[in-house]
Amino acid sequence: MVNAVKIRIHRAEACDAAVLAGLNAEFNEVRMPIALIKKRVRTNRKELVLLADVSGDVAGYACVQFSRSMCYQDDWAEITEMYVRDRFRRMGVGTALLSAAERGAAQRKVYQFVVLTGGRNRKGQALYSSAGYRKTRELVYTKDAANQQIHTIAAKRGSA
Ligand SMILES: CC(C)(COP(=O)(O)OP(=O)(O)OC[C@H]1O[C@@H](n2cnc3c(N)ncnc32)[C@H](O)[C@@H]1OP(=O)(O)O)[C@@H](O)C(=O)NCCC(=O)NCCS
Repeated sequence: MVNAVKIRIHRAEACDAAVLAGLNAEFNEVRMPIALIKKRVRTNRKELVLLADVSGDVAGYACVQFSRSMCYQDDWAEITEMYVRDRFRRMGVGTALLSAAERGAAQRKVYQFVVLTGGRNRKGQALYSSAGYRKTRELVYTKDAANQQIHTIAAKRGSA
């Protein structure tokens, strides 16, 4: 008999801060203060943070950022983080996180989902293609802000 895998997705709350800190450190290699994660999860209405567990074990997380402009009637959503721990991959966790993100956005009148992923990130590209996302020809430009260091220091003190 094959053991059924039970994937559960839920919206993260402040009490999940330590778990989120661990997942975020694994994925982004960033150490965020737990108190700051708690505060952001509790107060940032523009971000939806989702946690996945598989049969009770923490398996991954995803974050969705909602944006609004005077140029368009509806909002748009960017999936900014999508991470599944190695041992839980190819079980449908990434797909379940994406579906939950889309369901979460449905309450907000979102006209489009956007996700950036590495040009060489085959796994990421395969996941998004399998979920119906199309690759665009646009390029992404970034530049570090002049006051970037100030923000980093503020974040370390937990005051941002
Ligand atoms: C990308 C990632 C989130 C996928 O998570 P996952 O839980 O393994 O994805 P799923 O099991 O839902 O896969 C859904 C489909 O995506 C495709 N896919 C996912 N991983 C794949 C891989 N390694 N190779 C080929 N296709 C893959 C397949 O079509 C798969 O369906 P199938 O298993 O029935 O063939 C995971 O590999 C990961 O966390 N990678 C590191 C972080 C990352 O790159 N994040 C995305 C970029 S921001």
